Amino acid sequence: MGVLETERLTRRFGPLTAVDALSLKVEYGEVFGLLGPNGAGKTTVVKMLTTLLPPSDGSARVAGFDIVHQAEEVRRRIGYVPQMLSADGTLSGYENLLISAKLYDIPGKEREQRVRAGLAFMGLTDAADRLVRQYSGGMIRRLEIAQATLHRPPLLFLDEPTVGLDPLARRAVWEHIADLRAEFGTSILLTTHLMEEADNLCTRVAIMHLGKVVALGTPAELKDTLGREGATLDDVFVHYTGDTLDAGGNYRDAARTRRTARRLG
Ligand SMILES: Nc1ncnc2c1ncn2[C@@H]1O[C@H](COP(=O)(O)OP(=O)(O)O)[C@@H](O)[C@H]1O
Ligand SMILES: [Mg+2]
Repeated sequence: MGVLETERLTRRFGPLTAVDALSLKVEYGEVFGLLGPNGAGKTTVVKMLTTLLPPSDGSARVAGFDIVHQAEEVRRRIGYVPQMLSADGTLSGYENLLISAKLYDIPGKEREQRVRAGLAFMGLTDAADRLVRQYSGGMIRRLEIAQATLHRPPLLFLDEPTVGLDPLARRAVWEHIADLRAEFGTSILLTTHLMEEADNLCTRVAIMHLGKVVALGTPAELKDTLGREGATLDDVFVHYTGDTLDAGGNYRDAARTRRTARRLG
């Protein structure tokens, strides 16, 4: 049994089929990447798998539990970092984590120790008592990952974890994601439109286009399918979707994230 299995999972919004009969299996210990341009259906998949949005059709199991009929069991076993920044800017990092510890029912006696460990793991010990609105975007993302993993979920969902971050901050987030998997064996499903991110982190990727998976495999396998020396994941993406990833499409997401960041400030 995989950590995640979907069977013709589908979501319609009126006449639009945002996710079209998606069948996927993710094994324990994988960092699985859902790739695709803006509007491909990535966030809709994540919202269904985190039980926030009911599917229109099909089914899925997370850690063995049905996302519709056993939603509570599913919620207890996952962490979720949404695409839009979600930490509270008017509280310190420590306070944000303490709230998550309560939310996740971590016993009172263990809370402080868990929160301290979470801060240390994400490299935020020195910033623990500063207000989050003084954090950089990369620090906020690391804090949110700490929040989402306090209860040590077997599966973590990261929706566009580094959108809007500069390359250095992005790299720091990648390192911390890799550490989570190495240290706790956390399985991860992340969405991204950054091929470099997928190449760097993912054991396997699925390329989504208009609600459907158009290519699936390890980054190396996908590059090999093009049958030409030096092919990049970007080339793979263009080949399967006829789309380019940079500019246009993802600009709106980045702008939205920055607006959220400004609101925090
Ligand atoms: N609540 C909603 N109501 C109507 N349409 C939606 C809703 N959420 C998403 N969509 C549409 O579904 C499609 C997929 O969106 P989304 O899953 O956010 O894509 P991605 O995360 O890959 O950018 C888009 O065309 C989007 O406009
Ligand atoms: Mg999205």
